[in-house]
Amino acid sequence: MDRRKFLTTSCTGACVALGSGFIMSALLSACKTPLGVIKANSSNNHVTIPLAEFALADYKLVRVNNYNYDLAVQKRADGTFHVLVLKCTHAAQPLTKTGNSYYCTLHGSQFSKTGEVMKGPAEKHLIELPTILTEKDLTIKLDMTI
Ligand code: FES
Repeated sequence: MDRRKFLTTSCTGACVALGSGFIMSALLSACKTPLGVIKANSSNNHVTIPLAEFALADYKLVRVNNYNYDLAVQKRADGTFHVLVLKCTHAAQPLTKTGNSYYCTLHGSQFSKTGEVMKGPAEKHLIELPTILTEKDLTIKLDMTI
């Protein structure tokens, strides 16, 4: 094999290997659950989260299996919880968390972290869900009509 052919073959192989590794790494990191996100299953229209999940952070995004929207769960200073459905009240688009607020990518509505409309066209506050607090768990009663 001449020098030119050897270099071409070697570089192509190395580039493919590096590219594959980079792509695999990106794919694997995309599959991980991001920090601050809890994946949960519902049972009888309820989802239960261990309070230990809030030991280090007062805020979690909860992604419930077979539920159309993420839940924003905020632990208050008094130990109670505030749960919002991240569904835009204008036309039902899932919301995106942006810093201290939630943004609707469809028409641009913005909601505060407590669910109030900061910018329209949405006019209604985000839907809040009732919670039941026990010694070890937070149970959220899901609204299945959403
Ligand atoms: S659906 Fe969110 S602003 Fe229209």
